[in-house]
Amino acid sequence: MKFFIDTANLEEIRIASTWGIIDGVTTNPSLIAREGNDLLGTIMEITTLIDGPISAEVQEASAEEMVEEAFKFARLHPNIVIKVPMTFEGIKATKKLFAYGIKTNVTLVFSVSQALMAAKAGATYVSPFMGRIDNFAKSDRAGADLVEDIRIAFDNYGYETMIIAASIRHPEHVSQAALAGSDVATIPYKVLLEMIEHPLTQKGLEIFREAAKK
Ligand code: E4P
Repeated sequence: MKFFIDTANLEEIRIASTWGIIDGVTTNPSLIAREGNDLLGTIMEITTLIDGPISAEVQEASAEEMVEEAFKFARLHPNIVIKVPMTFEGIKATKKLFAYGIKTNVTLVFSVSQALMAAKAGATYVSPFMGRIDNFAKSDRAGADLVEDIRIAFDNYGYETMIIAASIRHPEHVSQAALAGSDVATIPYKVLLEMIEHPLTQKGLEIFREAAKK
């Protein structure tokens, strides 16, 4: 399973890159706005920190303008993946970018039917939002079930489109995504820190350290 870090915070990416287990980065307009830095500059800086897929989201509304904006990002670095919204204009743009060999990540996916449309348009990735769908469905399994169902649907027809489990709120979402067969989980820095913690590990380390002193 690939781990992407879900942030535009350069310090978080810098620290996480030292662990040797981060395979890519996803950003979105909220994450970029939160950092308050220049969009293109931030994306460029990220490409120097992680040698893997870096998702940058287009903002334009029409397919033609999305494609134009996508070229602006794509020419920055070969690792750039264009994040495209789950709309008909986004699907049209995905199809055009596929023809140009530009990788895409269709985002804001909340159903199997949406994921299938993106796969048919040649999307490299689809991003089902686990946390948001759990909140919407008032469930702690709705997101996991969605990832599982997309996995089954893609495997039924041999789609090569990869699944990025997104909108991850806690380590359990990462476990659920792995058990559902997601290709990638894009994980906020805070959740990455939580993933490594377990009280029994802490307790065990203390016991071993005490024993080692004797
Ligand atoms: C990643 O590609 C998504 O934009 C991100 O995971 C969304 O997370 P949120 O639901 O916390 O905004």
